[in-house]
Amino acid sequence: MAQLLAIIAHPMTDKMSTSIELYKNFIESYKQTNPNDTIVERNVSEEPKLPFDDTALSIYNKKSTGATLTRYERAINNARQSYVDEFVQSDKYVFVNPMYNFFLPAEMKSYMDIIMQIPDTFEYNDQSKLQGNLLNKKVLHLQSSGDCFHSADKKLQELDLGDKYLKTVFNIMGIDDYQSIFVEGMDFDPKNSQSILNRGYQSAKQLARVF
Ligand SMILES: Cc1cc2nc3c(=O)[nH]c(=O)nc-3n(C[C@H](O)[C@H](O)[C@H](O)COP(=O)(O)O)c2cc1C
Repeated sequence: MAQLLAIIAHPMTDKMSTSIELYKNFIESYKQTNPNDTIVERNVSEEPKLPFDDTALSIYNKKSTGATLTRYERAINNARQSYVDEFVQSDKYVFVNPMYNFFLPAEMKSYMDIIMQIPDTFEYNDQSKLQGNLLNKKVLHLQSSGDCFHSADKKLQELDLGDKYLKTVFNIMGIDDYQSIFVEGMDFDPKNSQSILNRGYQSAKQLARVF
């Protein structure tokens, strides 16, 4: 039995969200194939904010020198650590987001700043080389964007900074099994938006059966 952790970054409103619909298609199909798996969902846009602010930086510096944390810092450190522990204990990850300004929503980057923690997820080994500590795990990135980035045009692909960032940092953490599904281009091709979405939903359902 595996644990799948879904990290969703989308402010919940009444408006239909294409990235969340993409996730729903994935997860319903996943549940049918893996009825005994545990599924944990975190919408980081709705969770209490834990930014990398002065407190987080003070915690970081004090932990690296072994200095004592204040009571407030201990509470914040515990809250941050519980996200790290949940991440490390999970087997599979699904990251769900709309593209914002060619990148991920800020809350998802903030989440990554929490889980990129030495030595839980990665470290530098005795030869000062990066070493990923998450082995035998897999990531799926589900992303919706107004424009199209994943055609044969390499220059356009370079502009999807969020997908490239996630793939790179998960590789640093030791996760090479990284896949993405994009629904993209609906804002510039409204006539075909439904067929673009349907294609994405079908891909999500199919991948869920083998993920
Ligand atoms: C603040 C903001 C920034 C956006 N930036 C981009 C962008 O850089 N590139 C792009 O193709 N679409 C961009 N979009 C469009 C969304 O990514 C697109 O509409 C997406 O399908 C929304 O997903 P949702 O339906 O899950 O909210 C942006 C939308 C918003 C609100």
